[in-house]
Amino acid sequence: MGELDTLTGSALAQIRAAGTLLELEEIRVRWLGRKGTLTEQLKSLGALPAGERPAAGAGINAAKNALQLAIEQRRGELAHASVEQQLSSGAIDVTLPGRGELQGGLHPITATRLRIEEIFRRAGYEVAEGPEIEDEFYNFEALNIPANHPARAMHDTFYLKDGRLLRTHTSPVQIRAMQRGKPPLALIAPGRVYRRDSDVSHSPMFHQVEGLYVDQNVSFANLKATLHKFMEAFFEQDLSMRLRPSYFPFTEPSAEVDISCVLCRGAGCRVCKQTGWLEIAGCGMVHPQVFKACGIDAERYTGFAFGAGIERLAMLRYGVNDLRLFFDNDLRFLAGFAGGRW
Ligand code: PHE
Repeated sequence: MGELDTLTGSALAQIRAAGTLLELEEIRVRWLGRKGTLTEQLKSLGALPAGERPAAGAGINAAKNALQLAIEQRRGELAHASVEQQLSSGAIDVTLPGRGELQGGLHPITATRLRIEEIFRRAGYEVAEGPEIEDEFYNFEALNIPANHPARAMHDTFYLKDGRLLRTHTSPVQIRAMQRGKPPLALIAPGRVYRRDSDVSHSPMFHQVEGLYVDQNVSFANLKATLHKFMEAFFEQDLSMRLRPSYFPFTEPSAEVDISCVLCRGAGCRVCKQTGWLEIAGCGMVHPQVFKACGIDAERYTGFAFGAGIERLAMLRYGVNDLRLFFDNDLRFLAGFAGGRW
């Protein structure tokens, strides 16, 4: 036992003197490893008379624990010292000011969508969603565009092998909403749409927002007032709006929506091609055939619908002149919107 105290004492001295983590590990192995001195002592217990074994065993275990504790403590000291040493060696000057962090932000299209949603939510509209992979029924037939209808060709549709398609507009969400719920209905449906079209002002994927309002006694005047109020809220300015007669198979009557140019306020500029007007949306009163396809009584209910391009709204609001900038994801462009308001 006296010998054990001496051994423990010299082991502790070695541990405290260890200068590196590597050295400390060597000491650990020497004393506590499988062939270490204390381990050997434990093995030799068997040679002792039975009466002495318990006391001797307890002594050796206590020594082991003491060494383990000392090793842990020394390991902590050495690790701390090595960090201190790295810091003071001059490789890092912790007194230098930080480089700062780049501030992230919403993509301008996302920001624009949220802004549109907020304006319509305030007016009591719900935000609805529908699938981007649709079938011909929802994208065309229920919207009064039968198979041989010329409007189909205008849609430049991407078809899947199984006959389904990528929706060419957000109008199929109207159908899903009218199948699901009974009037009164007030909703907008923003989302991605797809067309085989790609040039300076067209992208094969872009975003639209659809609007639908169905109730008793909904009039064309309601449609006009709603769109006018929306445009003024969106662009944060008083503006004029005009409706030009147009044609969509799913609305009757139908119209194109123009607003006075938000950049030159109607005076004429490059963006409005000197006309003072900007074409901004399509709209109309829900066609009775569409109500029929959704099981809504067209004698009792009327409704209006509209559709607008989100990229177009964003370009005009932010003064962006090239559609492709929204899809290149060049950080130099996107950073201009980071942290900004919608
Ligand atoms: N779906 C039409 C389009 O993509 C827009 C529209 C929606 C027109 C609703 C009228 C009513 O061009």
